[in-house]
Amino acid sequence: MRNVSPDTLTDTLLSLSGPDTDPRLQQVLTALVAHLHAFAKEVQLTHAEWRKGLELLTRAGEISDSERNEFVLFSDVLGLSSLVDMINSPTGCTSSSVLGPFHILGAPELPVGGDMIGENAGAQVVVEGRVLNGDGEPIEGAAIEVWQTADNGLYSNLDPDQAEYNLRISMKTGPDGRYALSTIRPAPYLVPTDGPVGDLLNATGRHAWRPSHLHFIVAAEGYRTLVTEVFPNDDPYLDEDAVFGVRSDLVMEYRIGDREALAPDITAREALHDQFSKVDFDFVLPLA
Ligand code: BEZ
Ligand code: FE
Repeated sequence: MRNVSPDTLTDTLLSLSGPDTDPRLQQVLTALVAHLHAFAKEVQLTHAEWRKGLELLTRAGEISDSERNEFVLFSDVLGLSSLVDMINSPTGCTSSSVLGPFHILGAPELPVGGDMIGENAGAQVVVEGRVLNGDGEPIEGAAIEVWQTADNGLYSNLDPDQAEYNLRISMKTGPDGRYALSTIRPAPYLVPTDGPVGDLLNATGRHAWRPSHLHFIVAAEGYRTLVTEVFPNDDPYLDEDAVFGVRSDLVMEYRIGDREALAPDITAREALHDQFSKVDFDFVLPLA
């Protein structure tokens, strides 16, 4: 191995794997190392640039903890998270999208039609739809989680003025696969920029805005769990999401709401402002 050269290094390294190496691991590693080495050769990476890259990763490690993961954020702003989502999204089903760092377990369960607005200020909206299989049949008992920003663009776990589970609920679909809730319109917000990801965005003249969205996790036995987001069609950042999470099937219209047309199980029905919006959105789950 003492005569290793830029031309032989990649193959030499990959030949070191033992006979018991998992074949998929070897396949992934082979491509990863080949692309990494090709990248360094293509740009003729200097020592200073290589050190800077390692410094960035070291800082990402230092700023990460159980609440914040800067590596995931790097993956998000470099488009890797969304690329993995898109590669693994089966056709004919609702697209998946980034989970983001602000999901927490244990959101309180509401009945179908329940209210998530509580004391929150903001434009009110009733969101309703069904969870379906690929044949368009309703899925009963699907577990839905919803979380979103308050009117100030903050998630409850970043805002000491919000209760722990503010604007976070879970719900189970009925026999007709239906879910429904009243909430407020979420606000656009900035991904965290106080770490190395922010430095990278800055250095490349990119902004950190995400279009407003409702996060959903939809899970049902026998189906692949769907992690996704749903965006209003008039959001100014729809075509410039800092983490590339928007898919055309996830963009929905906020129509003018009609109180009389609301289902009787919408518990906030009479309390809603006169100018509330209505959003209809079905989820289609792929088989497991
Ligand atoms: C979010 O949608 O909550 C999010 C996603 C990716 C990075 C930061 C935030
Ligand atoms: Fe989000």
